[in-house]
Amino acid sequence: MSKLIKTDDSIVNSSDNRAFSDLVSAQLSRRSLLKGGAGAVAAGLFSPLFAPLAGLAEAATPAPVARAVALAFEPVPIAVRDSVVVPDGYTAEVLYAWGDPTGIRGRMPAFKPDASNTAAEQAVQAGMHHDGMAYFTLPFGAQSSRRGLLAINHEYIDDGLLHPDGMKDWSEAKVAKAQAAVGVSVIEVEHAGDNWRVVRPSSFARRITAQTPCDIAGPARGHALMRTEADPKGTTVLGTFNNCANGQTPWGTYLTCEENWSDFFANNGTLTEDDKRYGIKAQDAGYRWSERDFRFDRQVTPNEPYRFGWVVEIDPYDAKSRPVKRTALGRVKHEGATVSLAPDGRVVVYMGDDQRFEYIYKFVSSGKYKPHDRKANRTLLDQGTLYVARFDDDNGGRWLPLVHGQHGLTADNGFRDQAEVLIHTRRAADKVGATKMDRPEWIAVHPERPWELYCTLTNNSERGTDGKPGTDAANPRAKNIFGHIIRWQEAGNDPTSDSFKWDLFALAGNPTLDGASKGTVNGDAFGSPDGLKFSSNGILWIQTDVSTSTLNQKEYANMGNNQMLATLPENGQVRRFLTGPNGCEITGLAFTPDNRTLFVNIQHPGETSSERSDPAQPKAVSSWPDGDAGGRPRSATVVIRRRDGGVIGV
Ligand code: FEO
Ligand code: CA
Ligand code: CA
Repeated sequence: MSKLIKTDDSIVNSSDNRAFSDLVSAQLSRRSLLKGGAGAVAAGLFSPLFAPLAGLAEAATPAPVARAVALAFEPVPIAVRDSVVVPDGYTAEVLYAWGDPTGIRGRMPAFKPDASNTAAEQAVQAGMHHDGMAYFTLPFGAQSSRRGLLAINHEYIDDGLLHPDGMKDWSEAKVAKAQAAVGVSVIEVEHAGDNWRVVRPSSFARRITAQTPCDIAGPARGHALMRTEADPKGTTVLGTFNNCANGQTPWGTYLTCEENWSDFFANNGTLTEDDKRYGIKAQDAGYRWSERDFRFDRQVTPNEPYRFGWVVEIDPYDAKSRPVKRTALGRVKHEGATVSLAPDGRVVVYMGDDQRFEYIYKFVSSGKYKPHDRKANRTLLDQGTLYVARFDDDNGGRWLPLVHGQHGLTADNGFRDQAEVLIHTRRAADKVGATKMDRPEWIAVHPERPWELYCTLTNNSERGTDGKPGTDAANPRAKNIFGHIIRWQEAGNDPTSDSFKWDLFALAGNPTLDGASKGTVNGDAFGSPDGLKFSSNGILWIQTDVSTSTLNQKEYANMGNNQMLATLPENGQVRRFLTGPNGCEITGLAFTPDNRTLFVNIQHPGETSSERSDPAQPKAVSSWPDGDAGGRPRSATVVIRRRDGGVIGV
């Protein structure tokens, strides 16, 4: 995410949900729970009682995975270098950069370094700003670590790099190219000889853009608020964009999450309640789509914004299948959609809403996962209950159901039916008294304990400032510029439970500072944790997204470029595994089932502290990955291997 995205703007959550400002000291002492942390928690929880989710492939027995007992790489130092740095004994190679052909047969135009590719060419090339990502084995159900599919989000665009002359002479053609540069890629990859490569052409290759028809499913399908002149039935919407983090289902589908979608809309008329709660303003965040494509102008198309903010399910194994917006999972600024399975087979999806003072959600399906019935599983995310989290100061917590007719979610309060509860998810969550968090980003599920979750709360510099909510037990620091990682365990070791216990896994910080800014990280320091995922052997990987403007603040002095780290919950020790090129964030990761290949995304190398890059100086900050020979920095997927072919991290 960059400064172009207006997430950090005014607070749109004006509800009066709990702010435990008097509990700061109590909670800061809670860090001791964490220090002893690992041991204390381990005693009760570290016995595998449930089949591992490792591999998440159905119709196949996952290959046995040896649990990591220690990290065994030499940590890399902090760095301000225009390259990807990995530990000794590892390699990092670029696989798929913005503009590279996706591999669609007969349509594989090469990237032009001066950015003169057309919109039609961009629509069959890698989009910009890679983010969440998942690996799917080929064939489906196999445990192949040498051939698979990667589904990759392209979160947003930098128009300063996307067009040869940036936003000068703004035109329909430039809007079309921007709309073709967002969305999702599905690419086929194979490990042949010593290297991974993109298979071109491939029958699986596809691009999903802001113009790809998507079905609307679940309770809001066909609802009056979902209908537009172009779609009078409210069942089909063009496109998905601002796809940030992701999820992966056991039945082999990809979940992509619409995060800062509101940045693309404008409403130059009277702002609605929805505009205010989700942050739509008179002007968009600088993308200027609404000037040429009127569905992004809310005065012209008032219901179009209701058709964004959803989790979208994609079948990567069928390039002709339509993406489906799963409205039962709520409409927020979705960061990710992390899947767990309950002992009884119900599917649970954990989701963060990444904005200051927003909430953490989970969805519990009504139906049960059927390991050998992929078709039946494809509708599991349409019926179930959406909950929002309340973190209590005694380390307990409740999942509060967002169900029409319950807890004030009634017509009198503006919710005429369940579809409206879901369309207005944020307002529903305000009503039931959820806990306002410090920007919930990714949620990771432990591979052996599917009831144990970790969530990055990336930062919140407004916590405890004038007129803003104060600190509380789960968000214990005022002006929290470093962020933290919270952890919870569902009651009864059951992800469907309506209560949980939580603690703070780590407060990020800068160890050269004093007081709360020091943080509680045991090992290598980091700030603004964002990407978070377990490998199937139990290593928790942390990726950071410190914005360029924040990196320039004095608190972040000597913290280096954005990075990726590893930790084992058993001892909480953190080691720095990777540092990225100048101006990038690290976001998105996927392992092959054998954990011997790691795919990582490098997003927005070269980001400046301006709203977008200067087309006259595209390489002012970074020329990664092409170096002097290239025309401009490019986001890219990188393949990381051990030189001896061993398991990553151990
Ligand atoms: Fe797209 Fe919240 O990061
Ligand atoms: Ca993110
Ligand atoms: Ca972020």
